[in-house]
Amino acid sequence: MSRPSLPARWALAFVLALAFPFPADALPMAGPRQQPRPDHDHRHGTYRGRVIAEVMSYLGANWLMRPSRIEEERPDEMLDALGIEPGMIVADVGAGVGYHSLKMADRVGPEGVVYATDVQPQMLRMLQQRARRAGVSNVRPVLVTQEDPGLPEGEIDLILMVDVYHEVSDPEATLRGLRSALKPGGRLVLVEFRAEDPTVPIKPEHKMTVEQARAEIEPQGFRLKEVLDFLPWQHIIIFEKPAAGDLEKPAAGDTGPEPVVEPVEADPAG
Ligand SMILES: C[S@@+](CC[C@H](N)C(=O)[O-])C[C@H]1O[C@@H](n2cnc3c(N)ncnc32)[C@H](O)[C@@H]1O
Repeated sequence: MSRPSLPARWALAFVLALAFPFPADALPMAGPRQQPRPDHDHRHGTYRGRVIAEVMSYLGANWLMRPSRIEEERPDEMLDALGIEPGMIVADVGAGVGYHSLKMADRVGPEGVVYATDVQPQMLRMLQQRARRAGVSNVRPVLVTQEDPGLPEGEIDLILMVDVYHEVSDPEATLRGLRSALKPGGRLVLVEFRAEDPTVPIKPEHKMTVEQARAEIEPQGFRLKEVLDFLPWQHIIIFEKPAAGDLEKPAAGDTGPEPVVEPVEADPAG
């Protein structure tokens, strides 16, 4: 194949500059790629039988700011339920334009920090603009990869993923990184549209059941703590990173082993 002419190369460079406006070193970047896991079918885009959704493009970012979101998702009530306190170090993983990051920044206050991560630099650029306009200075945008969530080790009190986990294309690598970023006892919170409910008007691959979330997340060293179901369409699924040596305790919803029922002999007397 012949090389493109000089004007064509300039045109290509111009288009790329528009599409990727960040200089490569403008945002902290997560580390190297890792090997695919055996039960992660990259070819078919599935993980443990679930179809992994495509990443939502930055071209649709306006959808994240739609006014109807307040009614549909009740973001303030969702955050109230998480008990975010002043001074906490939290992360909004898959932050998009920072719809929740900015609200979290207000809650953790000037002594706290919000790491806002995303795999799309264009999303983070919009997030930075919104934070600047709102005068928010405790949000740290971090450009990450699907293989490395790019958070500091052992520092985070709470990780929030709203409408993100089902897009993660390397769940095990991501969960490993998220787990090591959490303090012992720190929480990983997934807010996902309820796949148990066929009336929730979202594509199936953008929904999750609690059962599926548990099957994927608990084997990676987390324990289900609580499921909150008061939102109109989503559930709030809260996992925690157990303290060292604390993985043996039963998870929320586990009632322990089934009781053993001795067979009853038929009474010959009738
Ligand atoms: C549907 S949007 C939700 C954005 C935001 N959480 C919100 O509720 O407004 C999903 C976002 O997750 C990001 N994303 C997908 N996979 C990711 C990953 N492994 N790590 C970080 N961000 C990811 C996408 O780029 C996109 O911005």
